[in-house]
Amino acid sequence: MRRLPRLFTASPVFMALVVGGGSSLHAGESTQTLRDAAGERLLVGTAIMSHHLDDPPHAALIAEQFHCITAGNEMKPDALQRVQGQFTFDAADKIVAFAEAHGQTVIGHTLLWHHQAPRWMFEDEQGQPLPREQALENLRTHIHTVVGHFKGRVKGWDVVNEAIDDSEPYLRDTPALRAIGYDYVIKAFQFAHEADPDAELYYNDYNIERDYKRDKALRMIRELREAGVRLDAIGVQGHWLLGSPSLDEIDRGISAFLKQGISVMVTEMDVDPLPRNDAGADLSATERAGQNPYLDTFPDEMHHRLATRYDELFRLLLREPGVTRITLWGTTDAHSWLNNWPVRGRTNHALLFDRDFKPKPAFHAARNALHDANSPATSP
Ligand code: G3I
Repeated sequence: MRRLPRLFTASPVFMALVVGGGSSLHAGESTQTLRDAAGERLLVGTAIMSHHLDDPPHAALIAEQFHCITAGNEMKPDALQRVQGQFTFDAADKIVAFAEAHGQTVIGHTLLWHHQAPRWMFEDEQGQPLPREQALENLRTHIHTVVGHFKGRVKGWDVVNEAIDDSEPYLRDTPALRAIGYDYVIKAFQFAHEADPDAELYYNDYNIERDYKRDKALRMIRELREAGVRLDAIGVQGHWLLGSPSLDEIDRGISAFLKQGISVMVTEMDVDPLPRNDAGADLSATERAGQNPYLDTFPDEMHHRLATRYDELFRLLLREPGVTRITLWGTTDAHSWLNNWPVRGRTNHALLFDRDFKPKPAFHAARNALHDANSPATSP
């Protein structure tokens, strides 16, 4: 694989903007990768699709910049067992082999989610819930087979994704809940632990750090612990906007989880600079139309705002030793899910690398924050 061209070309103006004049960059550091800047402080990751690995500059960037890889889609239930009993591991295996070849860790995403889940798992052909025992057996077989297949090669699993409701109820009304009942989350964790007792297990969701959803996430932690299941970390997805949520709100949420003695991982970070609703990653909150203001260029002023937000967010997260991973939900702007949500077909700029694989000022902001956190002796 060819090495990355040296692309670290942010202008002096942006360097000044993103380091705020107070940082301690010295000669040579400007080529440091995210992975090197973070060192042992925490894992820095990205979400990918297996076909990204066929594109040499993209593959090189993934290999060079990150400690760990999450499969953005290809370990989800509908990717691995779309037809009952027929498991298709090729794409996921390719991701795991790539990670291993580059000394990277793999995060499994996800064993159970109401999106990208095959209908047969919890519903009959009329759309009615399966009997509990049958649904449990389907879930058990899926999790045992998948976690068993990757045993020893996947460090940790997002066992259940987005089970918490955004409004009144505690849990979201899903096919799994209707067929199995309220203990379906606990059962999924139990099955995962049976299949690989050494794998870390996470509960993953969007907006759980926010005031309106935090108590339910604390309840989830409490109930999983009361059930005696393994729970290593709470996954805060981190689909954030330029102006929301506030740093204070994020801080309140993360501190509340850390106070429970549990690690926090930011599992799907991006910062959306386009105008839109504030729905986290609620896929039902689709908008039929929306402005697409940065189709041709992303202005300097917006680069500055994005970099400033990444700088603030990374520095906030890095203050807490209990935050043990930050994974970006994609590597370049070309491959961000935000090009198609909540409005289809927009041109988004939410990540650290642009469409030419070049690091943006936001990259330098994140990288410098990592560097400073990892080198306290040289921090201002
Ligand atoms: O694979 C098909 C392809 O065959 C077809 O031609 C194409 C046409 O649209 O669609 C492809 O499937 C798309 C799939 O991503 C793979 O690219 C789906 O339409 C699209 O809906 C799907 O979106 C994914 C989304 O989850 C919804 O399932 C995003 O890529 C993925 O990044 C996103 O990830 C989620 C996390 O898993 C959980 N948290 C929120 C996050 C963002 O929604």
